[in-house]
Amino acid sequence: MTEAMRADELRPVRFTQGHLLLLDQRRLPWEERYPSYDDPFEVAGAITSMVVRGAPAIGLAGGFGAALAARRAAALQGLERTRYLERAAEALRGARPTAVNLAWAVDRVLAAAMEGGPEAALAEATRLLEEDIAACKRMGALGAELIPDGATVLTHCNAGALATGGYGTALGVIRAAFESGKRLRVLADETRPYLQGARLTAWELQRDGIPVELITDGMAGHFMQRGEITCAVVGADRIARNGDTANKIGTYTLGVLCREHALPLYVAAPRSTLDLSLESGARIPIEERSSDEVTRIGDLRIAPEGVAARHPAFDVTPARLISAIITEAGVARAPYERSLAALLSI
Ligand code: MRU
Repeated sequence: MTEAMRADELRPVRFTQGHLLLLDQRRLPWEERYPSYDDPFEVAGAITSMVVRGAPAIGLAGGFGAALAARRAAALQGLERTRYLERAAEALRGARPTAVNLAWAVDRVLAAAMEGGPEAALAEATRLLEEDIAACKRMGALGAELIPDGATVLTHCNAGALATGGYGTALGVIRAAFESGKRLRVLADETRPYLQGARLTAWELQRDGIPVELITDGMAGHFMQRGEITCAVVGADRIARNGDTANKIGTYTLGVLCREHALPLYVAAPRSTLDLSLESGARIPIEERSSDEVTRIGDLRIAPEGVAARHPAFDVTPARLISAIITEAGVARAPYERSLAALLSI
């Protein structure tokens, strides 16, 4: 592996020479392209259209989007400036509804902008990026201890460097276990319909030299039944006070399968993914995306013309199916109401 291919250099969100650069994940694994953004409303569009995706990464993009808004607002006066900032913040917050990291980051950068202007806003967005990478590495080190030597780890969607500032949450745990010398292999769910597992997780792990095999989502139960899976590790978009966790559609099914087969299901997420204002997962907003993403693969229509499709992009895994929640501040176990609140107060 060359230096340039090292996974810890995979940075999907960058701010260079006054521009926000986002790795266009819709083009992966075929092409690595970093379109550049200067307009917060275009950043909101990039989040909605999945140029950047993954809860922490869209939070970081939203944070830099808010910093760009502060820069543009500086040319305006009084009420006009406030209105522009509010409109931009609203567009960014609303770009995708499930990941709580987005509103959290936009609000943090907006507060810095109100207090200290555009430089302070950019400094805050940059701090969030650095904090996120550090959090992923810490999470990785803590989570790696839960992965036995020789394990086969199942993961769903992409919760890797691509979904964060760098290093990853679920893939950070896998990466850290691998770097510590444990022998392991990964089964990656392809993750219908957007294929984050096939396109992104397989690509990211292959770059790192971590053994990975792709399976379709429906194969997980088969491999569990045959004793071929040791545990599942996934990311999260929002975790409610009681530990109920929203993550990519299909995660709940994995949770049920893990319970049936007495396998641990671990969730890895930074504390910015915790939303203790919600008492349970029933209150987490679930994004409904276009049915075209189900009836088509890329430009190719796979369902008969005229057939409708449903597309909830996330589901909620009840806390009772989750063996542990790995954060940068420690590993929480049931009862989550108590353990998650304790982690937030550290
Ligand atoms: O629709 P996506 O690709 O943004 O969904 C991403 C996921 O569900 C991830 O598992 C989650 O955001 C955690 S990323 C560290």
